[in-house]
Amino acid sequence: MSERWWESAVFYQVYPRSFQDSNGDGIGDLEGVRQRLDHLQWLGVDAIWLTPIMPSPDDDCGYDVSDYRDVHPELGTLDDLDRLLHDAEARGIRVLLDVVPNHTSDRHPWFRDPAREDWYVWTDRPNNWVSVFGGPAWDFDQQRGRYYLHQYLPSQPDLDWWNPAVRREFLEILRFWFDRGVAGFRIDTANRIIKDRELRDNPPVTPDMHPVAARLGQRPLYTTDRPEVHDIYREWRRLCQTYTPERALVGETWFFDLQRLAAYYGDDDELQLCFNFLLTHSAFQADVMRGVVESTELALPAFAWPCWALSNHDVSRFVTRWCGGDERRARVAMTMLLTLRGAPFLYQGDEIALTDQPVPPERKRDPLDLRMPGRGRGRDPERTPMPWAAGPGAGFTEPGVEPWLPIGSDWRSVADQRADPGSFLNFTRGLLAQRRANPDLRSGAYQTLESPPGVWRYQRGAGTVVTLDFERWEARIESSSAGAGTDS
Ligand code: NOJ
Ligand code: CA
Repeated sequence: MSERWWESAVFYQVYPRSFQDSNGDGIGDLEGVRQRLDHLQWLGVDAIWLTPIMPSPDDDCGYDVSDYRDVHPELGTLDDLDRLLHDAEARGIRVLLDVVPNHTSDRHPWFRDPAREDWYVWTDRPNNWVSVFGGPAWDFDQQRGRYYLHQYLPSQPDLDWWNPAVRREFLEILRFWFDRGVAGFRIDTANRIIKDRELRDNPPVTPDMHPVAARLGQRPLYTTDRPEVHDIYREWRRLCQTYTPERALVGETWFFDLQRLAAYYGDDDELQLCFNFLLTHSAFQADVMRGVVESTELALPAFAWPCWALSNHDVSRFVTRWCGGDERRARVAMTMLLTLRGAPFLYQGDEIALTDQPVPPERKRDPLDLRMPGRGRGRDPERTPMPWAAGPGAGFTEPGVEPWLPIGSDWRSVADQRADPGSFLNFTRGLLAQRRANPDLRSGAYQTLESPPGVWRYQRGAGTVVTLDFERWEARIESSSAGAGTDS
């Protein structure tokens, strides 16, 4: 594999709690991921990203870490992780973890350690900052008689990245996992970690803001994208470069402004991949999708490798959100994902065209949904367990065991689809094989071609043309260069 292995890799996001339960407690775990490596290898992915696996009280499903150097007991042990890393490597699959540097759990020992009080952001006079999860971003701490900052839940206090001790600690944490063989990290809420030192008030929403970003009710000028954040990622990248193969950093760069997104690639000395959420949050229409891709191609510096996802654990699954459950539309979307220039991230279940599954109120687990009821659909429907096979437990857990979230029934299982050459699963696998076999698709330049309204055509490299028809819902890949051109 090339030095810049992340540029030829297809990534796959695993949500461990919902991937495979290996011990019959209804919760997916690391041993379960290991047992399902066959599927990932058969599908043809090169790397997996595991959402947080570290110990956590699970107020925010693992995004509230209470120990950055261990594995959550419900998910397994460090030994289980080592076994997973070993077996994945034997199959040529790299493993990335999720690091949460913006905040810890309030039950992390650091938060109550008097010697580490200055590891968090405190004030006597709260400013106007609001939490992404609703309400003020400041909570009063009785014990200390001051307010602490939390950009998410009150039980997720923000770390103070102005403090050099925090910076040193996280470099050590990254090193801890890199030394075990972890190939890289997805960085949670990467653009928010360092805040304005003077804690200035955020200004009101401006008309140019993307409606999704404007939901916060203010412009996050002093809470997001502070210039100093780049110093931190330059240091992280330097650490990555001390390893062979180089370790990769993938930013959860939640921006709709592509210039600001581009800045996180630095001068090829910061993050190697930055998620492009403008695509995920745009309408699935030919001209809109084409517009996002063209502006991304323009905004990113020549060395930068774009990074695309249709779904993840925070948004409605693309088959529901974009395609209304229609598999023909889903085939167009999947063809787009796997033929664009850049790193594609599949979210577990995307390969079988899994839709959001209903979660009744009494089974809800998403704190965002419980804290802000009525705000929307919550994030549980896209986090339900993988349906591997028909029957009780769906191959995810043992029959008779209640899984942590309901499995639902509105799906065709992996086993069922694997046996059917015309299934969505085999279609996705075929696209992955084409991408692997065709250098145009893997690394060729992107160029828009002329096309009638409702159709988006583009060329990749010297000889591969992709046609996505958003009216007849058809997708075609034609290739005159090496690698087979196949109609899909
Ligand atoms: C982004 C994560 O993807 C999401 O699940 C989490 O709730 C927030 N960051 C806070 O960590
Ligand atoms: Ca389990």
